[in-house]
Amino acid sequence: MSNKVLRADIAAQPALQPIPLHAINSVSPWIERIVGLEKFEKTVRDKNVILQEYNDGHYKDLLNLWEGFVAKSPNAPLQLFFNEYDRYHSKMIEERKHIYRSSTENYLFSIGDEFYTCDLNLGTMMFRNIVTRTVDDVLRAHNVSSVVELGCGIGINVLSIYHHSAPAVLRGGDICSNAVELGNRMAQKHSIPATFSIFDYESKESLRQMTDGLDNYILITVHSIEQIQVEESKIIENICSLPNPPKAVVHFEPIAWTVNENSGVSVNMMDKFCQRYAELNKYNMDLFTTLERLEQENALVIKDVRKRVWGISPFNPTNIIVWQPR
Ligand SMILES: C[S@@+](CC[C@H](N)C(=O)[O-])C[C@H]1O[C@@H](n2cnc3c(N)ncnc32)[C@H](O)[C@@H]1O
Repeated sequence: MSNKVLRADIAAQPALQPIPLHAINSVSPWIERIVGLEKFEKTVRDKNVILQEYNDGHYKDLLNLWEGFVAKSPNAPLQLFFNEYDRYHSKMIEERKHIYRSSTENYLFSIGDEFYTCDLNLGTMMFRNIVTRTVDDVLRAHNVSSVVELGCGIGINVLSIYHHSAPAVLRGGDICSNAVELGNRMAQKHSIPATFSIFDYESKESLRQMTDGLDNYILITVHSIEQIQVEESKIIENICSLPNPPKAVVHFEPIAWTVNENSGVSVNMMDKFCQRYAELNKYNMDLFTTLERLEQENALVIKDVRKRVWGISPFNPTNIIVWQPR
């Protein structure tokens, strides 16, 4: 008998391993913070905190990583740098295992109301695929050839969308100059028709500049609106009142699913956990309620809502919302 037959009794390892709620504290500190067993306090999340955390920390490191990468491998394809970027994240998590409690091979994710462990790189790939495929569907549905991402960071989504759909025009905007610089360097080095510039959600003028001269485009946001207060910033109203509004807006963002007084539907425990996570981290909780209010005021129409499709951050999962200005 061959080895192959003898080995048939070895159980397959599924890529996603379900993990029950009562066990997730072994792979994440968050459930204890959410239910109040561990104290967690964040100072106010203002622009200075955001710039310190992203521009002076994360994006400065990534710009250095890029410089080292290009010096070592000047002719390498961009995907190799993305791999380097993923390794940088994995290393950070491995180094802070005492905080994250997860290893990168056994990382906690959520889908809908359920929890799973999965390899972090595989989970990240799946997330990028969800973004690029959804954007591709929306581009095709509206026969549109340009994409603008607000709060784009270093442009990983914009550049991945280029490789998936090759839109004619790609733009990204972010408040962090190091991120904008890195986005432009990657695009120029690889002759990708994408440009990155400074953008601030709180400035109507910077939204106008980001979309200037475009008439057949979609706007996307990927976990960047989470950082700002939606009602206060007036970002949704500002998009609707652009002289050249987008054909569609696609958000890949966390949502606080609060009770709608009229619907009689109560929120479940996972809704409450996610709300508490947003409260503790000082993220917004008003994206969906603002969209609903503006829909009632006839300023926009919500076309598609997909709840908690994928949570790389299990209590700050991605929801997909597609809407159109009226
Ligand atoms: C979690 S990161 C997401 C980055 C990018 N969308 C991605 O998926 O890789 C959040 C981003 O929001 C940006 N951001 C925060 N506040 C902003 C503001 N007021 N205007 C523009 N961007 C902002 C941050 O600089 C950061 O790049």
